[in-house]
Amino acid sequence: MNSSAEMHRGYENHLPRRVITGRGRSAGLDGVCAAQGSKKVFLVSDRGVETAGIVEQVAAPLRRAGILAGLAAGVPPEPALTDVTALLEQIRQSAADAVIGLGGGSVMDAAKVAALCAGRGGTPSDYVGLGKAGGRGLPTILVPTTAGTGSEATFVAILSDKGAGTKVGVVDPAILADVAVVDPALTDGLPAGVTAAAGMDALVHAIEAFIASVATPLARGLALEAARQIGPALERVCSHPADTRARDAMAVGSHLAGMAFANSSCCAVHALALPLGGRFPIAHGVITGCFAGELMRHNAPACAADFAALSTALGWGTLPPEAFAARLDAVAGAIGLSAALGRVVVPAAAVAPMARDAVLIRRLVDPNPVDVSEADAERIYRAVLTIVP
Ligand SMILES: [Fe+2]
Repeated sequence: MNSSAEMHRGYENHLPRRVITGRGRSAGLDGVCAAQGSKKVFLVSDRGVETAGIVEQVAAPLRRAGILAGLAAGVPPEPALTDVTALLEQIRQSAADAVIGLGGGSVMDAAKVAALCAGRGGTPSDYVGLGKAGGRGLPTILVPTTAGTGSEATFVAILSDKGAGTKVGVVDPAILADVAVVDPALTDGLPAGVTAAAGMDALVHAIEAFIASVATPLARGLALEAARQIGPALERVCSHPADTRARDAMAVGSHLAGMAFANSSCCAVHALALPLGGRFPIAHGVITGCFAGELMRHNAPACAADFAALSTALGWGTLPPEAFAARLDAVAGAIGLSAALGRVVVPAAAVAPMARDAVLIRRLVDPNPVDVSEADAERIYRAVLTIVP
């Protein structure tokens, strides 16, 4: 539907300049830096990654090679513009010529924006919005430690603006990674809840990237291959966390899904997720995972062929829309996401404002294959959430 009819329109695709995948590949970042001519690199990470021993593991060869100019392992979850400003100051003082972001989406997003500012001047807020970069900043090497966000493959960085009480995005192809290093071994020790939420979010990225009206042919191909990797691995990695083959498939699949939605879009699942996640402390992947089934039921009239292709790629057989949606609900239940969401009670009075906010996010609602009205959004929130009077 959206692959052939719009082919004549022409497309642009944006990808990281170099992608390295493989178990243990994050141990050789000194060589990666040398290959791109970086002589003083700044390593950005967070406390969780540091506690897991991964920061030291990655930093040691850089230190031995004499190219580690500085290290900041304090990026908080959901980093604010001010957090990135503080990070930027450290990077400037180190006189680094490249930035490594080692962590989940929060760390990689902070690293992307800090590297942009360090290379081009100014502060993070100067670059909020679409296409404000004006050129590339310092080179970046992005190394995900979770399998889900796909941030190492995208040109979006989401930060919170504490003053305005909202999330803002720096969106520009100039912040794409110079090198993305996808090392599945870094995800081996992830807690079960993180594995499940991030993994299901990656699946939703693949689905939404595939069905979005703006999907490029490249994005649709990437999304289908992401589904092929994730389908057999998601429930397996949740029930058998030590299964390294499943870990490998999730790491590669989530990376492919990231490249897919970077060249397409996320859709209404993400539109409904943002107002909910902004008001209640629920992991992003718990929300997207639990809302996917109901939104795909809503999308069913336009998506029968796409759902058949996706369910086939996922290894679920060729499913009609209702069975596809039911399977998504079943997966969210099987890996504990529905239970996690059910522990959060949402006051009835919050539903209408969330629905209003969700449909205002046009960049996510417009690409959705079926329009989502405010009334639709309210109905879907009520169907999925535990509402109290
Ligand atoms: Fe997501």
